[in-house]
Amino acid sequence: MNKKIALTGIKPTGNPHIGNYFGAIKPALQLSAQYETRYFIADYHALNQTKDPDVLSERIYEIAAAWLACGLDPEHNLIYKQSAVPQTFELSTILLAFTPKGLMNRAHAYKAMVQTNNELNKDTDDGVNMGLFTYPVLMSADILLFDADVVPVGSDQQQHLEMATDIAEVINRNYKKEILKVPQALIHKDTGIIVGLDGRKMSKSYNNTIPMFLPEKKLRKLIMKIVTNSQTIEEPKDPDICNVFALYKLFADQQLQEDMKKRYRAGGLGWGHAKQALFEIINETISSFREKYNRLMADKGYIDDILEKGSAQARELAEQKLVLLRKEIGVR
Ligand code: TRP
Repeated sequence: MNKKIALTGIKPTGNPHIGNYFGAIKPALQLSAQYETRYFIADYHALNQTKDPDVLSERIYEIAAAWLACGLDPEHNLIYKQSAVPQTFELSTILLAFTPKGLMNRAHAYKAMVQTNNELNKDTDDGVNMGLFTYPVLMSADILLFDADVVPVGSDQQQHLEMATDIAEVINRNYKKEILKVPQALIHKDTGIIVGLDGRKMSKSYNNTIPMFLPEKKLRKLIMKIVTNSQTIEEPKDPDICNVFALYKLFADQQLQEDMKKRYRAGGLGWGHAKQALFEIINETISSFREKYNRLMADKGYIDDILEKGSAQARELAEQKLVLLRKEIGVR
């Protein structure tokens, strides 16, 4: 009963919010019933943006604690730090030799930066470091190193996955052998877009997120800031065009959703009431996560232990793969 391998990387961008939870953490953790799962903290990917050592270090802990608090069980899921598996960087060097520069020129993230620079009349490559430019190659190495069958990611990562597939196929063709497993993207679709406080997609860049682990009082205050229209308490309201209800739906089961819809349509439910109900259901759902998160963040040595144990296991798997690859390409 060889299970297929699901692998995903988590960039330590800090302060995980409920968009991250429903869009990435929850669907990825659900895969562990069916797959052998490998989750890693993509810390060298984060270095491209985060150059302050204290900030980077703290973010790594935060993201590890978040996943552990939300249910990642290190006994059954491999969790490790990318930086602790140096074989990643050896494979990345191998992949670079097969990656056309033109392929990187087409990467969305790079292209977006170039476009912004052009619009601002700056030098085309202003602010672009080589880590950023070759990001898709390092990401391909993360994936191909562990023979991943599927890679659960958000739709923003689809192009990166296609690049990993392209690179693996070029290499396999060159050596006339499947020395790298060609991975498949598993795009989370069912959650759809998760709206933020202002009704736009919840995103750090819009500054409209609801952080996962806020203390109760702060959480309530933030929820009261969700943008609504100016309907009075008495007016019947349409749940399907309401930001508060869009968030409520994520947390409530079918029955609760139906009940709330009725209250909206009946009139007499003010925005303050709707927000209070949302606060209560979020708070109830996350309070055990929050408690665990706070406990973990107060005991970083414990997080270190978990990551070190996982990373040692990951290094072993990675070295086995590299031994084969070095032989195939003729360097050993
Ligand atoms: N690029 C991903 C993100 O920004 C993180 C990531 C790095 C990743 N390496 C990966 C995801 C390998 C899946 C597989 O979210």
